Amino acid sequence: MSQHDLELKKLRKVYPGGTVAVEAFDLQVERGEFISFVGPSGCGKTTTLRMIAGLEDISGGSLLIRGKDFTKVPTERRPTSTIFQNYAIFPHMTVRENIEFGLTVRKVAADEKKRRVDAIIEKLQLGDVAGAKEGALSGGQKQRLALARGLITEPDILLLDEPLGALDANLRKSIQEELKLLQRSLNITFIFVTHAQSEALSMGDRVVVMNTGRVEQISAPFELYTRPKSPFVARFIGRNQMIDGTLDEVHDGRASVATRFGVLSGVPSFERTDSASGANAMIVVPSEYVEIFAAGASASDELRDRVSGVATAIDKAGQVVYVTVELDSTLSVRLESHMENIAGRGIEPGSSVDLRWRPERATVVLGGS
Ligand SMILES: Nc1ncnc2c1ncn2[C@@H]1O[C@H](COP(=O)(O)OP(=O)(O)O)[C@@H](O)[C@H]1O
Ligand SMILES: [Mg+2]
Repeated sequence: MSQHDLELKKLRKVYPGGTVAVEAFDLQVERGEFISFVGPSGCGKTTTLRMIAGLEDISGGSLLIRGKDFTKVPTERRPTSTIFQNYAIFPHMTVRENIEFGLTVRKVAADEKKRRVDAIIEKLQLGDVAGAKEGALSGGQKQRLALARGLITEPDILLLDEPLGALDANLRKSIQEELKLLQRSLNITFIFVTHAQSEALSMGDRVVVMNTGRVEQISAPFELYTRPKSPFVARFIGRNQMIDGTLDEVHDGRASVATRFGVLSGVPSFERTDSASGANAMIVVPSEYVEIFAAGASASDELRDRVSGVATAIDKAGQVVYVTVELDSTLSVRLESHMENIAGRGIEPGSSVDLRWRPERATVVLGGS
């Protein structure tokens, strides 16, 4: 009775030998969503994908697709297709034969097979190379062939494990866009694994951030970028400035943190009931929201929170300027600014500066450095 295309409930994987690769993984995916999984190497992304595909036994918890329990159903009876980084194209078969293969093993009748293969060849613009073999294909064509093979069986869910990893940067960018458009036009759920945060954020409707087998946060990209829920996410995603301290008070949707630079405040990322005064906490501010002024210069009233330091380096790159500011002996920050905010405002190497931001742009996360 579930409306969800995919539902993971407390999914767990322990490999023989005892490695706990995935723990308590909860996720609900709407039909047609594009979900990115991101996290450092070894955090359990591939293992989770393989459990969804039925390529890996599930050690605990359950997995539902369109409301039906698939936890123990073998891979060939799941409505999923998987695309791996190396594409696993059969080199001795033509493009057409590679695409047909999934229907041949399912014993689909010849006329229907032809109709479906023709349609997908057209959709993915592989007509010109339908008779070619892998060796004659460009990187982009191989990528499209891998997609065609994944989609020909009309899966409910397409699983992609770092599918763009083998491509160079320019091709990668254009294929990201193609992939996103294709997914929209098909309205099929995509689960897309990557270790690159920028790719996860640009592709995903929602992003699942993983760390050592656990889900750290599931959020839409902008939310993830501006409102991290843990020190790990604040460090892994975006460009955040972070100052640690201890939680002071929480009320009316504001939390204050006692830091060695004074009391600073922000929007708490946690439920009020989680908070304990005196717990380790961090103020997290996306670098984009931090403004730099000469020490003591007046600034808009909205930029209420402030720390002071010394500009130790100013690197100019055209109109963009990178300013390194030492706040104390253990904390230096690097900020991007514009020439017009720096030149003629008394900010030079060695000068004292104030960094200011709006407290409502800051997030307070629990945990230490
Ligand atoms: N077949 C396996 N047997 C034992 N341990 C494995 C196996 N595959 C992966 N692992 C371990 O499980 C953890 C998660 O791996 P993986 O899912 O491949 O991470 P990711 O895809 O995020 O890099 C790692 O510690 C890895 O060493
Ligand atoms: Mg992997």
